[in-house]
Amino acid sequence: MYTLRDVTKRYTRGKTTVHALDGVDLTIEDGGRLVIQGPTGGGKSTLLQMLGGLDRPTSGSVELDGVDLAKLSEARLTTVRAQNIGFVFQSFNLIPTLTAQENVETALVPLGGKAAERRRRAAEALDSVGLGERLGHLPGEMSGGQQQRVAIARALVKQPKVLLADEPTGNLDESMRDEVMEVLETMWKEHGLTFIMVTHDSAIARRAPRLATIRKGRVTITENAAA
Ligand SMILES: Nc1ncnc2c1ncn2[C@@H]1O[C@H](COP(=O)(O)OP(=O)(O)OP(=O)(O)O)[C@@H](O)[C@H]1O
Ligand SMILES: [Mg+2]
Repeated sequence: MYTLRDVTKRYTRGKTTVHALDGVDLTIEDGGRLVIQGPTGGGKSTLLQMLGGLDRPTSGSVELDGVDLAKLSEARLTTVRAQNIGFVFQSFNLIPTLTAQENVETALVPLGGKAAERRRRAAEALDSVGLGERLGHLPGEMSGGQQQRVAIARALVKQPKVLLADEPTGNLDESMRDEVMEVLETMWKEHGLTFIMVTHDSAIARRAPRLATIRKGRVTITENAAA
């Protein structure tokens, strides 16, 4: 479970200071799903970076299961990320010279274990996103939707607690968007993940049971019981 208390993030360059997050209080239950929307520059990606321990707040606390990510050493934070948190980005961030299977395996390297076991788990993860036949393909040999599904397999192969997705369908056309959303929803349901997703897609936002809107670094939560 996430508990954020009075989280601020300021970026200062020269004489200008940007309040990317401005006093954010938020709790997210285990297995919960939260959709984040809001205007460009509102602070969505910044919030996701705090949740993922990719960056630290200027002040406030970001607790994951009672551990304040803001206070962890860099080494501990790297371990927490490697074990517990999967990321999916708008630009798939796959390594172009590695096959689908090798890309997925990279997520398991920090966790140790045998190479054969990594290969087996990567193949299994790719199979679960419908890419069991594409293990040996390079990213350049796949469609956008397929590349994003490889990225989802890479995020989930370590069986994280939390999946963070920053506009995962932003670079995809409509048919691929549906394909990727379907995979994400299935994964959320099957794995009991805590799933937090930034999206500009108003259709997705409308369907969300819990919606966080961020404007100028401030969060408003809307619950939608009908969704
Ligand atoms: N590394 C940085 N240095 C300085 N300013 C930054 C940095 N990262 C973000 N910002 C600023 O913080 C604010 C919030 O940015 P953020 O990327 O979180 O917005 P966003 O809601 O994700 O926008 P978008 O929809 O365009 O992705 C913006 O004003 C942005 O310019
Ligand atoms: Mg962003």
